[in-house]
Amino acid sequence: MSAWWRDAVIYQVYPRSFADGNGDGIGDLAGVRAHLDHLVDLGVDAIWFSPWYPSPQADAGYDVADYRDIEPIFGTLAEAESLIRAAHSVGLKIIIDIVPNHVSAAHPWFQAALASPDAPERELFWFRPGPERPTDWEGEFGGPAWTRTPDGAWYLHLFDKAQPDLNWNHPRVREEHLDILRFWLDRGVDGFRVDSAALLVKDPALPPVVDGRPHPFHDLDDVHEIYRSWRRLIDSYGGDRTLIGEVWLPDPERFARYLRPDEMHSAFNLEFLCSPWDAGRLREVIDETIRVHEPLGAVATWVLSNHDVTRPVTRYGRAETGFSFAAKREGIPTDLRLGTVRARAAALLSLALPGAAYVYQGEELGLEEVEDIPPALRQDPMWHRSGHRDPGRDGCRVPLPWSGEEPPFGFGTGTPWLPQPRAWKDRTVAVQRADPASMLSLYRAALRLRRTVPAVALTWLDSVPGVLAFRRGAFACVANLSTAPVPFDGDVLLASGPLEDGLLPPDTTVWLAL
Ligand code: GLC
Ligand code: CA
Repeated sequence: MSAWWRDAVIYQVYPRSFADGNGDGIGDLAGVRAHLDHLVDLGVDAIWFSPWYPSPQADAGYDVADYRDIEPIFGTLAEAESLIRAAHSVGLKIIIDIVPNHVSAAHPWFQAALASPDAPERELFWFRPGPERPTDWEGEFGGPAWTRTPDGAWYLHLFDKAQPDLNWNHPRVREEHLDILRFWLDRGVDGFRVDSAALLVKDPALPPVVDGRPHPFHDLDDVHEIYRSWRRLIDSYGGDRTLIGEVWLPDPERFARYLRPDEMHSAFNLEFLCSPWDAGRLREVIDETIRVHEPLGAVATWVLSNHDVTRPVTRYGRAETGFSFAAKREGIPTDLRLGTVRARAAALLSLALPGAAYVYQGEELGLEEVEDIPPALRQDPMWHRSGHRDPGRDGCRVPLPWSGEEPPFGFGTGTPWLPQPRAWKDRTVAVQRADPASMLSLYRAALRLRRTVPAVALTWLDSVPGVLAFRRGAFACVANLSTAPVPFDGDVLLASGPLEDGLLPPDTTVWLAL
């Protein structure tokens, strides 16, 4: 057993937006295949693919119509199989997204359930008779979590109405998912990212959501048995496959329950992602993370971005640098220069911490959130379901710039499904590869050096307020989040920005050999 995931750097590919191989303006597997060299050159260990299954794309593929095939826009199953082999042959592991909480409304089970009020498939979902809406639960994208069928019944959907929730009390739902996991394990995938992992089990009494009472669909105790059964299956495949959960739970003790030795190997550290650029708060999150992971032998993860949140260079350039969905608005002023300086410092900080790290495509290019996408082109259901109060997540999903002076910047030959800013001519992979001071060069250098960092726990070093300093063996990392330059000891291995007269300037991180 290699336990490769313990210190891996995992790169998230968002297939629609990575690279387009056939000129239709939408990224696909051929595009990924053609750019595997970028990931090898960057130095990551694994790729996590956001959903690649057949889907009406009501939520960009998180509405799955068939879990055992590939979305025709992206390619074919044969292409995915050969991509898995090609990635393995260049040393990259493959993690795929599995979406167990809900299916697409186009999934055959839901279609059968809709066909008649007596269809046995209704048991696989949460159907309730009308006329009253069963509960006043609000969905995760805003708006009511129930939609009425033409025959007057209601069905539950915690996300878009095109994403009906499965009933995980039904044995067929459980068997089906074990079988889906087997399908992909047999095709060589090295792990699964479990979407919305804390939501699967609902209280069948459908009580209202009341503060201070157990939540009817967040983090119910019975969810853990599901992951135990998945872990048993995965372990039966030889032990070097991994489960990573998308678990949005601010309570570290509840979060840690998903990481018990017979459940998942790791879960996204979304508290770290949401943390403002503030030394005190970051230190708190780092300490809490280590405190809850260590006794379980679980792998801590360090995450700065993904396909759901505002890009770091935009976030860190604002007055309020933390992330929350509730506070997400567009048009809040941001200083992209400052944001970029901080995102560079944050990258070195997070990549120095013990555990696994995640890089969301485009993060290594320092791309900003695109906030001027014309409303008519926006696709995210969050934008539509929030009555346009929330700009949605399209701004972090704009197709990558690879090369050239103008859109589509080598993304493909067609018009990209979302428009790319003209200023990205300075942010292409080609330009950044040639520039030792670029964000890409920083990530590349960091990922190489990271392999030499001793695989030992972190020890905090004394530092002044606003500075985070720790060592791991003979390696040290110092991040200056204060407003004044600070001294440091050690030989510089890598710095996120220029040093000034031997001092570490504000918003800069340095890696040191002691
Ligand atoms: C997760 C995904 C998000 C998706 C939602 C519903 O939070 O990361 O993109 O919309 O689940 O599947
Ligand atoms: Ca395409």
